[in-house]
Amino acid sequence: MSDSYVWFEGIRFPGSGFDPEVFREVRDKFVVKNEDTITVTYPKSGTNWLVEIVCLIHSNGDPKWVQSVPTWNRSPWVETIPGYEFLKDQEGPRIYTSHLPIHLFPQSFFSSKAKVIYGIRNPRDVLVSGYFFWRETNIFKIPETLKEFMELFLQGHVAYGSWFEHIRGWLSMRERENVLVVSYEELKKDTRVTVEKICEFLGKKLKPEEIDLVLKYSSFQFMKENKMSNFTMLPDSYVNENFSFIRKGVTGDWKNHFTVAQAEAFDKIYQEKMAGYPPKLFPWEEC
Ligand code: A3P
Repeated sequence: MSDSYVWFEGIRFPGSGFDPEVFREVRDKFVVKNEDTITVTYPKSGTNWLVEIVCLIHSNGDPKWVQSVPTWNRSPWVETIPGYEFLKDQEGPRIYTSHLPIHLFPQSFFSSKAKVIYGIRNPRDVLVSGYFFWRETNIFKIPETLKEFMELFLQGHVAYGSWFEHIRGWLSMRERENVLVVSYEELKKDTRVTVEKICEFLGKKLKPEEIDLVLKYSSFQFMKENKMSNFTMLPDSYVNENFSFIRKGVTGDWKNHFTVAQAEAFDKIYQEKMAGYPPKLFPWEEC
């Protein structure tokens, strides 16, 4: 159980598995290769779903890899101590993950041709998903109530800092050829089309029946039952009894949890912080 946080550049991170020195090395020394594929998200935006899709695309829909190797070894988080140790010496093209805000991301990326898939999700659903995730794990201590958690979330005093800064930072890269922005909402609405878009971005030509396999093995039900993807392999000391990583998998769950006053307070800050962005960038604005 970790009650303490690791701090780096004013942002707090879980107390175990992270080290300020590693953050510094990842940002300043880690060499991103042109052939790398990196899934980047703010936590609870559907990261692991995207990772599953990327891995299945890589194996042309063959589920052997996703069913035999845990997510965190298939696509390690570069900013974690074990992830960094593994990736820095890995030969050949690599697949990895990161929740880092852009200013802490490996600087070598910005002059590389490596491909980043940046996953976004309605921040209200990110908040609710995060509330249940952090509450049922001992990875990062959060307050008891959703109300208190929302206050911290809106101030950016949660793991990996402010959602707003994360989004603003990474969306500034959205016109780059080697950055693809994918929303959780579009993945839910039209999974096949979105998977095809990811294939095209990665330069992978899959046959229709291979796409079928990608869809099948990355589906909510398959991921929920795959112990390599559902985080049931986390040690008992990290999780509470009610922990369920692949929890609901829907859009708009926030409506079941926010009061009217909370929804209004959230909207007010959202409008202030996201002013100037075309609403079409964010599918949740159209709901
Ligand atoms: P909920 O808590 O709203 O259910 P991350 O991987 O970034 O931590 O995000 C976790 C969220 O993605 C959880 O959301 C989880 O249920 C959802 N998720 C994971 N796999 C999914 C899938 N195959 N289809 C839909 N949602 C999925």
